Amino acid sequence: MNILVLGSGAREHSIVHSLSKSPSVHKIIACPGNMGMADIALCKRLPFKDNLDLIRHCRDKIELAVVGSSKFVEEGTVDALVLAGIPVIGPAEDAGKIETSKAFAAKFIARHKIPAPLTTIVVNEKEIDEAFNHNPGIRVAKCDGFSRGAGVLISDNADQAKEAAKRLLRENGAPVILQEILYGVECSYSILTDGQQWISFSSSRDYKRARDNETGPTTGGMGSVSPSPDLTPELENRIIEEIVQPVVNGMKHDNLLYRGFLSIQLMLTSNGPRVLEFNARLGDPETQSILTRFRGDLACLLKDCAMGCLTSVGSEVAFGKHSAVSVVLAREGYPESEIADPIIEKLENIKESYVYYSSCKKSEDSNRMKFRSGRLISITAIGETTELARAKCYQDISGLVLDKVHYRRDIGA
Ligand code: GLY
Repeated sequence: MNILVLGSGAREHSIVHSLSKSPSVHKIIACPGNMGMADIALCKRLPFKDNLDLIRHCRDKIELAVVGSSKFVEEGTVDALVLAGIPVIGPAEDAGKIETSKAFAAKFIARHKIPAPLTTIVVNEKEIDEAFNHNPGIRVAKCDGFSRGAGVLISDNADQAKEAAKRLLRENGAPVILQEILYGVECSYSILTDGQQWISFSSSRDYKRARDNETGPTTGGMGSVSPSPDLTPELENRIIEEIVQPVVNGMKHDNLLYRGFLSIQLMLTSNGPRVLEFNARLGDPETQSILTRFRGDLACLLKDCAMGCLTSVGSEVAFGKHSAVSVVLAREGYPESEIADPIIEKLENIKESYVYYSSCKKSEDSNRMKFRSGRLISITAIGETTELARAKCYQDISGLVLDKVHYRRDIGA
C-alpha cells in the first residue's frame, strides 16, 4: 500500500512511524513531512497549488491518505481526495465542523443530548447582556472558528466574562459561545470511526501549560500520557454510553460522513464526564503517546476505516495495558517569544525512548537539525506503568545536550 500522510509535525512523525511498521505498507509519502522522518518516509514538498492539483498528483499512486491537522478538513482537501476516489482518514468538511465551528458543535451537542457545560450562542451585545442576566455563572467565552490569538477566554467573575465576550464579538465577529465553567480533571478520549462502527483509540492527558504544576501560558501541549491516569473503567463506560455512542449515532442521524479519528476533550466532574470540545483528528502531543502504545496493523485498520468497513476485532489487544509518556522539548521562550535558535545534541544517547520531530530540516553546513516551530521534538517512552514510562523518558532526556530549550519536568507525575 502507498500511503500519503499530510502534515509536518511530531504528530505526523508518530503516525508515519506506526504506519511504517505495518507489513502491508510499501511506501509512505509525507507531504511535506520533515527531515526527522526522512528515513521511513519519502518527504515531498509536492508542488501542488490547490486541492485539484494535489489529487492530480495522487490519483492512481496513493491508496490511503491520512490527514494530521484539521486544516486539511477545513480547506476541503479531504473532500477533494474522497471525490477523486482516494480513501481518506479525516472527516468531510461538513462533519469536521464539529471541531472547526464551536457553534456547530454546541448545536450538535444540544440536539443529541450529550453532556456538556451549560451553553448559550449569542450574536450581538444585547444577547450577551441577556445571557448573563439569565445565567450569571457564565465564565467562558469562545469565538466560533479558529482565531489567531486567544479564541477561548476564561474569566474569574461575571463582569470580566461579559467584557471578554464583547471583546471576542468585536474582534472575531458573531457568533460567540458562552459557557459555565466546570471543575474537575481534563481527559481526552479518542476513537476511530467509519461513520457506522467505532473503536476506542484509548484515553490520554495533554499538559497544556508551559511550566510545571500547570503554570505559565497555554501552549499547543508540552507533553502527554496515555492512558489518562484519571480514567477508571466505570468512567470509561459512562463516556462510551453517554458521549461516544450518541456522537456516532448523531453523525449518522445528521447524514454527516465522518471517517477518521475523533478526540473528545472532556472534563471529568463530580457529576460525570462533560464534553469541552471535539477535535476532528488526534491531538498533538497526545498522538505521540497513544500511537507508541499501539501494537496492531495501523495501515490495514485505517484503510478499512477509510473504506467504511471498520470492525472492532482486536482493538483492545492492540492497546494492551502499557502506558506511554511523551515530553515535548520546546524552544526557549515558547510560546511567547520564540527567538532563540535551539540546540539539541547527543540524540544517540537516547536508548529507550522514541523521538518524534516537529517541523525541521537538516542545516546546510552540518548534520544538525534546524527547527522551524516552537515545539521541537517529543521524547516518548512506554512502560508497564506510567511511572516506569516516565522514568525512562526523563532518563533519556538527561543524556541530551540542550541549549535554549525548555521542557516540563512533571509530565506523568
Ligand atoms: N493537544 C491539543 C491539540 O492537538 O489541539
